[in-house]
Amino acid sequence: MTAFYFGGDYNPEQWSPEVWKEDVALMRQAGVNLVTVGVFAWSSLEPEPGRYEFGWLDQVMDLLHDGGIQVDLATPTASPPPWFSLRHPDALPVDAGGIRLTHGSRDTYCACAPAYREAAVGIARVLAERYSKHPALAMWHVHNEYGTTCYCDHAAAAFRRWLQQRYGDLGRLNAAWTTAFWSQGYSSWEEIQPPRATQYLVNPTQALDFRRFLSDELLGAYRDQKAILRSFTPDVPITTNFVFGAWVPVNHARWAAEVDLVAIDHYPGSAGPGAEEQTALGADLARSWAGGRPWLLMEQAAGTLNDGHRLHTKEPGRMARHSLSHLGRGSRGAMFFQWRASRGGAELFHSAMVPHAGADSRRFRELTEFGALLPRLAEFAGSAVEADVAILWDAEAWWAMQSAHLPSSDLDYLASVQAAHRQFWAAGIGVDLVAPDADLSAYRLVVVPSLYLISDQAAASIARYVEGGGHLLVTYFSGIVNQDAQVRLGGYPGAFSEVLGIRVEEFHPVAEVQLASGGQGRLWSEHVHLAGADAVDRYSGGVLDGSPAITRNEYGEGVAWYVSTQLEDEAYEALVGQAIRGAGLERPELPAGVEMIRRRAGETTWTVLINHSEGEVAVPIAGFELLSGTEVVSPLMLAAGGQAVVRA
Ligand code: GAL
Repeated sequence: MTAFYFGGDYNPEQWSPEVWKEDVALMRQAGVNLVTVGVFAWSSLEPEPGRYEFGWLDQVMDLLHDGGIQVDLATPTASPPPWFSLRHPDALPVDAGGIRLTHGSRDTYCACAPAYREAAVGIARVLAERYSKHPALAMWHVHNEYGTTCYCDHAAAAFRRWLQQRYGDLGRLNAAWTTAFWSQGYSSWEEIQPPRATQYLVNPTQALDFRRFLSDELLGAYRDQKAILRSFTPDVPITTNFVFGAWVPVNHARWAAEVDLVAIDHYPGSAGPGAEEQTALGADLARSWAGGRPWLLMEQAAGTLNDGHRLHTKEPGRMARHSLSHLGRGSRGAMFFQWRASRGGAELFHSAMVPHAGADSRRFRELTEFGALLPRLAEFAGSAVEADVAILWDAEAWWAMQSAHLPSSDLDYLASVQAAHRQFWAAGIGVDLVAPDADLSAYRLVVVPSLYLISDQAAASIARYVEGGGHLLVTYFSGIVNQDAQVRLGGYPGAFSEVLGIRVEEFHPVAEVQLASGGQGRLWSEHVHLAGADAVDRYSGGVLDGSPAITRNEYGEGVAWYVSTQLEDEAYEALVGQAIRGAGLERPELPAGVEMIRRRAGETTWTVLINHSEGEVAVPIAGFELLSGTEVVSPLMLAAGGQAVVRA
């Protein structure tokens, strides 16, 4: 495997052959070594049913190969051509309101429709037949960003099959879905529908199961293609690019086992410092999903950050800082969407490696400079990222918490995970994001942010971790429901009450709360009773005046902390600081605004430092700095926006 890949989505079907030649020359100039080709090229490859046009792709593959550039060849199944949907209208997606969508965008298919599944495997087979022996082929990129939801009759039938497998008999389903509420009892499987638009709130367990089902169904669609590609090229790695977002019905932690290389697309949803924190979280998630195997940042924006309203041009150096954050956190490269900015089509103003202005541009020069640095970093590509802390991450808990039935619409799983992750990001302490039922024994501290849903087995395994000497920090609104999204009775936080030594009687959603220590909380508070734990901080003022807000409990050989509100950053930092010290972890000496990542292979360590602040900083570190190729002595002076990778 190449140490670090550098490149992006390349869509030559949008351009003439003269441009292809310039593309390859510019790719060479920039140090590009991998491009994803053909990801939306179905109508260019098969303009009419069964009539294929491979000439252009043959030429492009040859040109790239002659230029020394490897190809991550995509199957174009995320965008079937118009002829396909006209022939198979039943394979078009239907929204929750029953409206059948039409072609004219992308992802206009239902992954449950037999015609679509057959066609997807068909085009994958044709591509494999033609290119399996092409020397440029380095990797297969199946589809693009699986995540399309459909509520059609094919989806309904597949959902019922999935439910039959999960529950076996209807009685169990009725019990799990609490269908006695609002007279929803099912007397035959055929009565069950996807959670389509209905008069008022949908059944939360039905909605949760539908997402679980979609994740498995989409995985089936991926597996169909993988099997075909594997049969032609047993040694070529196969992947698909994971997209991250609240709308995505894909459990990436589970999918990861099915890809040879975990690949993610990452587009922060903020232009401020949130972009750096989100970048780090995205990278830590990808590495954790990969579980020690390689992963790759398959897409990021070359030149802009989109906060949902505006495209913010990335300031000089910011693209490199984000890319280095991904590399530092384990990515085997920095890839972009897309190589050359489109002149038309739906994403014509999306930034690209070669912008509309052309190669004579700051963006292209910065990319070229960054590409030149990558070979200097190659030595740490295979090393491990150090992480003594785990934050629990669970897609199903996220989905369950998107329910419209919660006591406050401010409850936000991702925001709670981000708030926890930010503390360790700022402190320069490595974090993995692990599944609730994972083996936690390698971690000194485990953080559980707002894990609303958790199974009995996972809760038991976490309790054993603490009993055996582990340190645990649980935050508000955790452990509330079981895997059927049913409340654990007898007091919150149900699954964690014993290990935390507390019992929560009621929730008190609020705007703000004060703590006796002077700290502040937001959004949420709880009426906590001590049942063995000590109160570390208490609410001050309001209904909960004097009752515990933060608790600490010794359990077996370990310690379990609980915080019943969303702490403001300063108070959160203080609490995490206590938990870190308690767990015997060292907090590195790090100036504010500097990101630090530690890597290790045997006795050799590498420290990645990225100065996101606006001033020069001094970092106490010495060793060989890879980017400049020089020995550095402590303190290392890092200019605003500066980066360093120090081997020791
Ligand atoms: C990705 C997608 C690309 C492109 C990009 C724009 O999610 O895979 O095809 O649309 O977003 O940000």
